Amino acid sequence: MASQFDVIILGGGPAGYVAAIRSAQLGMSTAVIEKDKLGGVCVNIGCIPTKALLHSAYIARLLREAKEFGIEAGAVKTDYGVAMQRSRKVSDQNSKGVEFLMKKNKVTVVKGSGVLLPGRKVKVGGDSHEAKKAVIIATGSRVKGLPQIGLEINKTTVISSDEALFLEKAPASLAIIGAGAVGMEFADIFHAFGTKVTLIEALPRILPLEDPEASDALAKSYKKRGIDVIPGAKVKKGTAGKDKVTLEVEANGATQKLEVATVLMAAGRAVNTENIGLADCGVQVTERGFIKVDAGLQTTAPGYYAIGDVAGPPMLAHKGMREGVTVTELLAGKKPHAIRYDNVPSVTYCHPEVASIGLTEDQCKERKLDYVAGRFPFSANGRARGTGETEGFVKLLRDKTYGEILGAHIVGGHASEIIHELAVARENEYTVEEVELAIHAHPTMSEAVAQAALDSLGRVVDM
Ligand code: NAI
Repeated sequence: MASQFDVIILGGGPAGYVAAIRSAQLGMSTAVIEKDKLGGVCVNIGCIPTKALLHSAYIARLLREAKEFGIEAGAVKTDYGVAMQRSRKVSDQNSKGVEFLMKKNKVTVVKGSGVLLPGRKVKVGGDSHEAKKAVIIATGSRVKGLPQIGLEINKTTVISSDEALFLEKAPASLAIIGAGAVGMEFADIFHAFGTKVTLIEALPRILPLEDPEASDALAKSYKKRGIDVIPGAKVKKGTAGKDKVTLEVEANGATQKLEVATVLMAAGRAVNTENIGLADCGVQVTERGFIKVDAGLQTTAPGYYAIGDVAGPPMLAHKGMREGVTVTELLAGKKPHAIRYDNVPSVTYCHPEVASIGLTEDQCKERKLDYVAGRFPFSANGRARGTGETEGFVKLLRDKTYGEILGAHIVGGHASEIIHELAVARENEYTVEEVELAIHAHPTMSEAVAQAALDSLGRVVDM
């Protein structure tokens, strides 16, 4: 069978399904090719189920501390299997929601693995589909193992987030290799479900891409809670047995042996660019393996576009979603607002949450910028005291000459929500003064943003 569409999208994850919806809204006949469930990693084995599990972890912790709030909850029992089943329901609802959106917008969903062919064609099984305007590649990414240290993901004792999301029971002990977003979130989840967690990070600090003050705050919080945090550590060797794994970890010049029930690999993701016909169509990749795209998201092959994880970092759903909108608007002849890749918020949903946008203080120093840092701790915020969420802070980096918000870093309850005030401000080039001018309701966590702004101006009120 051969069919024709204006736009064909390979991959139905957040970048692909958003592109499909916007493409159809703009009047282009659209098809999405997906071999698995719609929604991709984000909906099925990523963002959505982990947030459900993190909320279960949050409830467990809250109940353990309930007495302080005047509530006797009794002995707290946790059951990872039940939390997991709930998270699956949440994922399935979201995936069905995407299916519904495809129908509502009259997007054709083709089930199967697609391979690109020259002439803007995509082969799925014995069928060939042709795009009159564009083929958009949105095939996403997958977990990366660490074969170089002898640890292959065996799905039983050595797992990735893919398997962690389907466990019926929390392991007795768990070593997590990598303290990026995946490592941090699963450390939080499993610790709350009674697992003895060791978090191993090769770089000198956990969450290495965040501002050092955020890394320090999280390391302190995790250690206080009883999570073993080993930064600057190299796993030299891993030996996986039937029901345990032995790791040789080198840190601070000494090697220690660690025996755990399970190892969770959280050392990054690899893009899905193999076996989809890129080379045959003239689509080139960068040295790091991402698909080369220009400012309009077109690849090196005219008529082929790439969005989401395959098109380069940051590998975040919301970055891919925005690219999906932008590329289809460009295809429809519109003039979308250029994507500001320096203004993509980054959020790690562990507790306390970590959210940031723009430059870290180290980056300001490297660029020799004339900046001043303004800070406000949640321990001095009335709302945070009331809810017991006094860990963390807001830190703003203000350009001394122009008042520009160079970067914003938040550690604390609801940081994932509060950060957007700064995203709007930066997108519209508001100054720190303009952020502070907006009246912030009292008492709110967001007041800490206004106070950090004032602190950077040398006139903090509330401390
Ligand atoms: P990542 O690249 O963010 O972090 C991996 C960490 O592992 C790095 O800090 C790295 O230094 C460390 N590492 C690498 N090799 C190691 C070794 N041999 N021993 C010890 N540590 C080692 O990757 P992650 O956390 O797996 O996430 C993958 C992608 O998915 C990222 O782009 C991330 O931003 C995204 N993601 C986003 C989430 C969010 O927005 N909340 C949640 C989960 C993932």
